[in-house]
Amino acid sequence: MTEPAIGIHDLSLATTHYRLDLATLAHHLGTDPAKFHTGLGQDAMSVPAADEDIVTMAAAAARPIIDRHGADRIRTILFATETGVDQSKAAGLYVHGLLGLPSACRIVELKQACYSATAALQFATALVARDPTQQVLVLASDIAKYERGTAAEATQGAAAVAMLVTADPRLLRLEVPSGVFSADISDFWRPNYRSEAVVDGRASITAYQKATVEAWNDYRRHGGRDLSEFAAFCYHQPFTNMAYKAHRHLLESTGAAAGAADLDTALAAAAVYNRALGNSYSASAYLALASLLDHRDDLDQRPVAIISYGSGSVAEILSGVIVPGYRNHVRTAANTNAIDLREPIGYARYEELHDPELPDDGSHHELPAETSGPYRLAALTGHKRIYQPTGRPAGT
Ligand code: COA
Repeated sequence: MTEPAIGIHDLSLATTHYRLDLATLAHHLGTDPAKFHTGLGQDAMSVPAADEDIVTMAAAAARPIIDRHGADRIRTILFATETGVDQSKAAGLYVHGLLGLPSACRIVELKQACYSATAALQFATALVARDPTQQVLVLASDIAKYERGTAAEATQGAAAVAMLVTADPRLLRLEVPSGVFSADISDFWRPNYRSEAVVDGRASITAYQKATVEAWNDYRRHGGRDLSEFAAFCYHQPFTNMAYKAHRHLLESTGAAAGAADLDTALAAAAVYNRALGNSYSASAYLALASLLDHRDDLDQRPVAIISYGSGSVAEILSGVIVPGYRNHVRTAANTNAIDLREPIGYARYEELHDPELPDDGSHHELPAETSGPYRLAALTGHKRIYQPTGRPAGT
């Protein structure tokens, strides 16, 4: 029996109104900018405006997908994030309301550090396999935030992706074998009373590399492809050099060549967007996929791997085959615009945005209108979050 083709039919990204160039951060810190540009492989990081959050980014990412395909067949929204705005209510409910989606819909939020969008994709695939007439909207949206003045400060960022998972997809057909690995460790976590993550950066790099090899070995044990078959690898990228570190480690663990040219062929096209956006936690590996599809036109019918790692920790390796003609369905111009049109800010403005003073007593508080996106967080009132459309278009 042949497997039904299920996978990613459409993929759209959104980010913030502002960006902080890492040259600006280096200047403020008195650090050599080459540490960030060459050492980490990062040029800039997205910084949310006062009226932006994971909901406004996710809704902005999803809007063009709904505009292109309609919402009649979407019966499930899976929202992956580790920057939740509520301990109880799923952030997807706000997106559902902003987009005016049908009420015949189930909505849930998933969390496991930077990994959860991959779980969402797997769950979506299973739902569509059960009923191929249905579609699932997978959202991944996060704001990576660490304490100012720490080593992790240069690896912040923010972005969202929206993916429509369907039968007979136009972009990527997901394959059944996948490789998984979990281990209870404390390399990065965020207790409920903190707005910034706690991270042991060195430990997280080592844990990421180990988890990648373990997940790869599991993938192979479950009938996965040989490494040499893949045209490209879309890694989770807390900083883009992390993909290079992990892939070198994986190649060396299997005895494959790991020269600079081998690494660039496998990784460079998938690193373009992450290099400019910074870390986006759950969205990161799928920004890598968007970047790959937008920057390579030789992938028809070729396998690519998605390597997902979430501290704490869970890793999963997925494989998929790129659908011939995918270049007719990508959103290169809109994706590039979202990244290029961010407004650069200086350190002082970034500092204000990093540590906003928001009421926690239920009093009425209006947010300044700053975002250039299609949706904004207008106010906090009575402990409720009030979102509004801005009237501005989303990427098309
Ligand atoms: N020119 C070029 N490269 C330079 C440099 C310079 N002037 N100065 C330093 N570097 C290089 C270092 O050699 C290092 O590269 P390497 O790891 O390939 O050896 C890199 O830049 C980073 O320097 P390092 O001193 O290790 O940085 P750091 O200790 O200040 O912090 C992280 C780096 C990633 C640990 C930190 O940003 C962090 O904790 N981030 C959050 C956690 C994270 O992203 N984890 C990833 C796995 S999920």
